[in-house]
Amino acid sequence: MSAQKRILSGIQPTSESFHLGNYVGALKQWVALQDGNDAFYCIVDLHALSGEIDPTLLRKRTLASAAQLIAMGISPEKSTLFVQSQVPQHNQLGWIMECLAGIGEASRMTQFKDKSAKGGADSARVGLFTYPMLQAADILLYQAHQVPVGEDQRQHIELTRDLATRFNTRFGDTFRIPEGYILKSGAKIYDLQDPTAKMSKSSGSTSGVLEIMDTPESNAKKIKSAATDAQREVKFDEKAKPGISNLLTIHSTLSGKSIADLEAEFADNGYGDFKGAVAEVVVEYFRPIRAKALELLEDEAHLLSILHEGSRKAREVAAETINTTYRNLGIVQ
Ligand code: AMP
Ligand code: TRP
Repeated sequence: MSAQKRILSGIQPTSESFHLGNYVGALKQWVALQDGNDAFYCIVDLHALSGEIDPTLLRKRTLASAAQLIAMGISPEKSTLFVQSQVPQHNQLGWIMECLAGIGEASRMTQFKDKSAKGGADSARVGLFTYPMLQAADILLYQAHQVPVGEDQRQHIELTRDLATRFNTRFGDTFRIPEGYILKSGAKIYDLQDPTAKMSKSSGSTSGVLEIMDTPESNAKKIKSAATDAQREVKFDEKAKPGISNLLTIHSTLSGKSIADLEAEFADNGYGDFKGAVAEVVVEYFRPIRAKALELLEDEAHLLSILHEGSRKAREVAAETINTTYRNLGIVQ
């Protein structure tokens, strides 16, 4: 047990389906990292409140997220799968992180700048601003060695390391300094319709987004209508051929074939044949995941019992860190 690395990651329950970008950029690694590590995976529902708040949807999406994570291969026996709000220590440490962070450094967070700019800075809420400090608490509570996330989370991990170092220096050794674990190749999946933009749930239209819970027909159709270019060579060239390069990345990541092998395999084919092959790989990859998730969602009591057990285990670890933190801060317990 003690030689294992502690892994912590989180994902927001902000839609009823994860998309391929979430899977390739983050969740696929979560599954792989369960083996040989002590992994804690958190559905960060409190973070989701920093966006649009809809109680019916939040409940539905939290359960849908849990079902998909288990269906993808997150095993409640191997790892601790839990819901952030069921572990009140996240709020407790979140406040402490807010008292440690400077307004200047928090203002430099690009996710905050992007998201607040989108809705107009005046309508942005305080929770969006303090989001990274709650994320730091998520990570530090579990004394995580590694935090598997997509490239866009690098800055939040850096902030977490800064806050942990600052706390340890001022108040005594309390937190392990975590490392980001960022997948380099294939880490970024682009929108099928606009292959220069990241595949994202917040893109205006879903026609370029491959969702795990979508029907096979719909996903196949989206791939077949993906934007490409006026040439006809299946070749990886992100600048000149972003659409084809994205499809090559998608195929390669899911099929395990190298990009070079795929270029050779489709050297004599047009884009139509290539898209058909990509569609088949994606549809067959998603099929069992979607089926298993739908099955889990049918028995809500069972799904909730899995989450309650995960949250119970998480609280045990989190409570220890909070005790040490409070003690080092001179908080009377
Ligand atoms: P989000 O749902 O956008 O908060 O993202 C959840 C996780 O998926 C984060 O760790 C992101 O870095 C990752 N992610 C989201 N979209 C993509 C994408 N298009 N390509 C790669 N990773 C992504
Ligand atoms: N901010 C992360 C994202 O947008 C989600 C997240 C919240 C997270 N807490 C975390 C990721 C802790 C890793 C560790 O994807």
